[in-house]
Amino acid sequence: MPMTDAAITAAGLRKAYQDKVVLDGIDLDVPTGTIFSLLGPNGAGKTTTVNVLTTLLKADGGTVRVAGHDVATQAKAVRSAIGVTGQFAAVDELLTGQENLQLMVDLSPGSPKNTVHDLLERFELTEAARKPASTYSGGMRRKLDLAMTLVGDPRIIFLDEPTTGLDPRSRRTMWTIIRELVADGATIFLTTQYLEEADQLADRIAVLDRGRLVAEGTPDELKRLIPGTHVRLRFAAAAELDAAVRVLPGSTRDDEALTLRVPGDGGTKSLRALLDRLDEYAISAEELSVHTPDLDDVFLALTGHDTEAAAK
Ligand SMILES: Nc1ncnc2c1ncn2[C@@H]1O[C@H](COP(=O)(O)OP(=O)(O)OP(=O)(O)O)[C@@H](O)[C@H]1O
Ligand SMILES: [Mg+2]
Repeated sequence: MPMTDAAITAAGLRKAYQDKVVLDGIDLDVPTGTIFSLLGPNGAGKTTTVNVLTTLLKADGGTVRVAGHDVATQAKAVRSAIGVTGQFAAVDELLTGQENLQLMVDLSPGSPKNTVHDLLERFELTEAARKPASTYSGGMRRKLDLAMTLVGDPRIIFLDEPTTGLDPRSRRTMWTIIRELVADGATIFLTTQYLEEADQLADRIAVLDRGRLVAEGTPDELKRLIPGTHVRLRFAAAAELDAAVRVLPGSTRDDEALTLRVPGDGGTKSLRALLDRLDEYAISAEELSVHTPDLDDVFLALTGHDTEAAAK
């Protein structure tokens, strides 16, 4: 059975708080040794999903298996197979970085002797190791938090927004570590607000919005879901934008940015036709750029914000 290849599966997962439905029938399938990224705007239900998958929260309906075990009836077996880095760091502020790590090692019998030292090195925390975590920056705290998760060498790792608040260099360090974990055979379930991060790391991405998965696929598949290349024109004044909208049917305006999005292939022929048309009506744009879709476009299109703008 291919079942054994799945690190995480969920079917019909449901969760409500009082009458507020947060997860409205979620299906997931994460193969072992891959990175799965759950994307979604604030309040979409990402943390709720992670909490259910990691046995911290009981679902109202559906079945979830993690590492082959049912989260509802075999919570202990699930917990011994996973590591979780929550959205908010689980670091003890009064302890030093080293003590925080040592505590995790003491709680997980069988960890190699040099675990603490190695993890401090790997996360560039050796220098700060003997200082209380309360003196750490937000980024250092997140790194320590992830290091603590890795004690005991979990095979399935849940990371809830692991790089929020990290500077670009620390973010890259984190990405490198995540890739190394997967190269070692671990499975990663990652939530993020950063589409670039999902694009960089994930084998598969699911987009969660209002309790449902509105799209799922590889980064490339998601990008192919939405209309392709377009030209973006930026105008100096609203009057020019108005004029351009009238002569360029099918375009989408953004009144705040004073831009117009014109569908097209971005080739020289269609660009010339576009410029000729503007010329014909004596309309000039401040700026013209050819835009190919990235995950931000997918996200905006799928979670409704862009469709609102387009409906105007
Ligand atoms: N304990 C709770 N009681 C009531 N409502 C809750 C509770 N926890 C979460 N919610 C609600 O469930 C919804 C989903 O929350 P969740 O934390 O899963 O979102 P999220 O996708 O992780 O958002 P963010 O990107 O801000 O972290 C929100 O509307 C939130 O207000
Ligand atoms: Mg969250």
